[in-house]
Amino acid sequence: MALLLSRELKSLADTATLAADVSALLPSGGVLLLTGDLGAGKTTFVQALARVFGITRTVTSPTFTLANEYPIPDGGKLVHYDLYRLASAGGLYDLGLEEALENGDRLVIEWPEKAQAVLDLEVPHRLRLRLTLNGTGCRQAELTEENV
Ligand SMILES: Nc1ncnc2c1ncn2[C@@H]1O[C@H](COP(=O)(O)OP(=O)(O)O)[C@@H](O)[C@H]1O
Ligand SMILES: [Mg+2]
Repeated sequence: MALLLSRELKSLADTATLAADVSALLPSGGVLLLTGDLGAGKTTFVQALARVFGITRTVTSPTFTLANEYPIPDGGKLVHYDLYRLASAGGLYDLGLEEALENGDRLVIEWPEKAQAVLDLEVPHRLRLRLTLNGTGCRQAELTEENV
């Protein structure tokens, strides 16, 4: 596990800057796991990342749909998963995981711990962004590279 970035996010502008930096590390076929409590800023980060990729559609939290996909103007898709309500890890296959990986889509996954077994099997190499809220309302962001 290698630490790639660590910084404080004091504003939405900092989230936008982080998204620009992370986008350069997320090539076609790349997978980014997003870890952090409710309210840590995971969905907000995905919205910022979508803007970096030139996506103009409004990115909403796929809390009930579990997955949303957005075409990237330069090619491929950004697929946004929110697994908070996933009943079992295997359910991730029903959300088109294998197809998305075969297509070389970029995947961002909120609540990856809900499907850890499947992700360890299917995506041993991935990035993980950890967002934590500290007591003063500031956010800490840490990006690591994982090889299971
Ligand atoms: N960098 C930031 N600075 C200020 N507010 C933020 C930041 N990131 C997220 N927020 C706010 O925090 C709230 C929760 O963010 P959200 O992305 O929905 O969290 P999560 O998806 O982790 O539950 C939203 O109101 C959002 O606008
Ligand atoms: Mg969210």
